[in-house]
Amino acid sequence: MGPQPIKNPHQPGSAGALADSQKLASILKLCQKMSSERDLSALLDLVVTEATRLLDCERASIFLFTPARDELVSKVALGSDQTIRVRAGLGIAGTVAATGEMITVNDAYGDPRFFQGVDQDTGYRTRNLLAVPLTGADGEIIGAFEVLNKRVGSYTADDAQIALSLGANAAIAIQNAQMIGELRRHRAILETENRNLLREIGGRLPAQNLLGLSAPIEALRTMIARVADADVTILITGESGTGKDLVARSVHFASPRARGPFVALNCAALPETLVETELFGVEKGVATGVDRRIGKFEAAHGGTLFLDEIGDLPLLAQAKILRVLQERTVERLGGRNQIPVDVRIVAATNKDVEGAIAKGQFREDLYYRLNVVRLRTPALRDIREDLPILATYFLDEAAREMKRPGAELSARALAAVQAYSWPGNVRQLQNEMRRAVVYARGTVIDTADLSEALQAAPLHGTVAARPAEVAALNLPEEVEELEKARIREALAACGQNQVKTARKLGLSRQGLINKLKRYGIAAAPDGADEQKEGDGE
Ligand SMILES: Nc1ncnc2c1ncn2[C@@H]1O[C@H](COP(=O)(O)OP(=O)(O)O)[C@@H](O)[C@H]1O
Ligand SMILES: [Mg+2]
Repeated sequence: MGPQPIKNPHQPGSAGALADSQKLASILKLCQKMSSERDLSALLDLVVTEATRLLDCERASIFLFTPARDELVSKVALGSDQTIRVRAGLGIAGTVAATGEMITVNDAYGDPRFFQGVDQDTGYRTRNLLAVPLTGADGEIIGAFEVLNKRVGSYTADDAQIALSLGANAAIAIQNAQMIGELRRHRAILETENRNLLREIGGRLPAQNLLGLSAPIEALRTMIARVADADVTILITGESGTGKDLVARSVHFASPRARGPFVALNCAALPETLVETELFGVEKGVATGVDRRIGKFEAAHGGTLFLDEIGDLPLLAQAKILRVLQERTVERLGGRNQIPVDVRIVAATNKDVEGAIAKGQFREDLYYRLNVVRLRTPALRDIREDLPILATYFLDEAAREMKRPGAELSARALAAVQAYSWPGNVRQLQNEMRRAVVYARGTVIDTADLSEALQAAPLHGTVAARPAEVAALNLPEEVEELEKARIREALAACGQNQVKTARKLGLSRQGLINKLKRYGIAAAPDGADEQKEGDGE
């Protein structure tokens, strides 16, 4: 007997009325279960188990197109744990998947489309089978579903109806489960990617922003990388404007807390009365009109709390912070609960904390809590060799901000920048470069565009051409270098005439001769000079 698609599954079936209503209830329940099963393999298991039960068959399998779409793969086969692969269009399942038509076969081995290879592989003997297409939400065929070896009799129109509706519902549920699985995988990938990017950007950008190649800056950069991962408390000390903020941020973004918040609190900017509510928060109604507000500790949960200018914190607040560091919980003002907080503390100060401890202005116990790791930001005068890098960076930044085509320092201006003592550190340099961009008429910034303080820096002339060497000198050496350079310059300009040279330099003739001797500068004979002088003027 040949296989034939059942065109009308609505003809009267063999099952009794009671069995029918039981089956209907089972099918409805199964459909509900299927649509709520989000795990694909659990769903497939559910479909084959229930289908064999409902259709009274020995086995059932679900074939799905592989993404490449040229073969069907059995995703689950009840009674066999072997994976079966059939080429698209091959066998009964392949034909059903290709045509979208249901097929019943009552004598498998009598059907030319039946692919006996599967039985040979599994050692199972298929007598009959019923296969239905799995049609997705947009009408596309995603595979086939088949039951094998009906235990009693042959497949009825009712069986066909049940198989078709199971197939239709299963297909949608399978697609949904596949989609959810895919979305979860994508989300996991994106999350990992995002985390890596964040770490990379966070870890790299601020560290890149920490400019400079001098030994102290390199050491600082190395330390940041070393301590970022360890969840220890850090105390950053250094003069004002040396990059303590920048270092705190670098630590946070290079740490595993990079995805968490970075919350900064400037303790110096805070009146004593507000310190507590700022740090710990306040409950509603503590005073009239007071709304509930969380404090910085809670806001920084999962991240880093940067306590800037901690040296300015009142003693009472110091005690409270110490308590939070010990207990790892905070209590809001007027609150009753201890709220657990997971926060890494990075503190900074430009004060001499050790001195403040000696004077009783800073709690020693808090100091020891904070000072687990100490990072020191170098003063600008200690990283003079980085001046060109920093100045260039801030000039570019200022030009960008002010939408100027560009800005660069003339050799003389750079010499002045290098000669200056920079009491205000990098922040002062940053401001000076901004100011210079404003004052400059062209893109080249000359000494006249610098502030008076810089213009007064004691370096001029040819020495400017040797900034790196000059930077390495102490003051007397630097002065000596300047004198030598000015004398040579003046001698050249005056054709080696000592009288003219002395006049040009504002020296007596003997004064010049003394300096020439001291510095070992060779000069033309005196007589010749005198002669020239006499002849010429
Ligand atoms: N090494 C550095 N590289 C780049 N920028 C720096 C460096 N040090 C300081 N800065 C910049 O100087 C300014 C002052 O730094 P900041 O971190 O606020 O100093 P502090 O907190 O020590 O007073 C900021 O704009 C900061 O970005
Ligand atoms: Mg600061």
